[in-house]
Amino acid sequence: MSIRPVGITGLGMAVPERVLTNQDLERMVETSDEWIRTRTGIRERRIAGDDEASSDYAVRAARQAMAQAGVTPDDVDLIICATVTPDMPMPATAALVQAALGAHRAAAFDLSAACPGWIYAVVMAQQSIATGLYNCALVIGVELLSKMVNWQDRTTCVLFGDAAGAAVLQPVPEGRGILSSVLGAEGAGACHLYTPAGGSRRPASPETVEQGLHFVHMNGPEVFKFAVRVMNEATVQVVEKAGLTVGDIDLLVPHQANVRIIDSAVKRLGIPPERVVVNLDRYGNTSSASIPVALTEALAEGRVRDGDLVVCVSFGAGLVWGALALRWGR
Ligand code: UT7
Repeated sequence: MSIRPVGITGLGMAVPERVLTNQDLERMVETSDEWIRTRTGIRERRIAGDDEASSDYAVRAARQAMAQAGVTPDDVDLIICATVTPDMPMPATAALVQAALGAHRAAAFDLSAACPGWIYAVVMAQQSIATGLYNCALVIGVELLSKMVNWQDRTTCVLFGDAAGAAVLQPVPEGRGILSSVLGAEGAGACHLYTPAGGSRRPASPETVEQGLHFVHMNGPEVFKFAVRVMNEATVQVVEKAGLTVGDIDLLVPHQANVRIIDSAVKRLGIPPERVVVNLDRYGNTSSASIPVALTEALAEGRVRDGDLVVCVSFGAGLVWGALALRWGR
């Protein structure tokens, strides 16, 4: 069994065309642009059409990532879709993506780890390539949370947006690629962010629908405290694991949930704001898509250079967290 360095060789993203602004939300629930902007930093988000599903966006993001990496569907050995909003409970959205791409050789499965799902999936794909089992993996974070929130609940509906982000993972030269990773969970906090019904505990019934139990339920302040703590701890741990320090970070790509969470973590870490990617003002919280979308945009804007130390860090329902340290280059 060989151990090879593994890195990201292509990135892509896809978002719906429809923009929902804070002003639009003012007409839907009792909220204000001022409240949303000052409490979260979000100005607008993208919302998918009624007839669209996660795989539609996953496929578009995947095609872009594959084009950037210069790989064909036949090259792909593995597809992992990190999502908590699959097209349907069964089969895996990754299988639908595999068929749409014509990646007939690829194994395909979904991974459920909420917002850090894409980081969890990258780590799983990395292991399979590092060991020589596979050569090329497609790792997608896709979420259409607009379909899962209660549009009458102002405490959640203003926060989320729809998007997909994808990365191609392949072997890279020594010294490049994923240097270290940190994954963690505090399952005791599951009650702070969850969808009560629609699973085996409370299968769908007229009562669960009537009570709105298929929507996302969240204890915002509890998640906020957890987020600031783990963003900080996971960032420090992942750079130390790589034998580096926080001061070595060229670009931090944090989960785009709330600019106050990002500011608070970054301030504690002492990272200058110009080294931090923030795009949540335009997309809201897109859960597992948040980091690959932010990374795709940062690369397109020329904010990532060969040899840069890029750190991604995320938190979410579980409660879980994940961080990656990457030396950019292929
Ligand atoms: O990917 C992980 C997903 N989750 C998160 O990242 C969430 C983390 N948490 C947060 O980002 C913040 O807790 C929120 C943005 C969700 C809420 O901000 P907050 O500063 O923690 O506000 P709060 O929940 O303590 O609510 C403060 C007030 C309440 O009113 P009262 O009880 O003080 O009268 C809420 O009812 O703000 C009210 N409120 C709103 N007002 C206008 C809650 N949502 C809204 C709203 N518009 N949309």
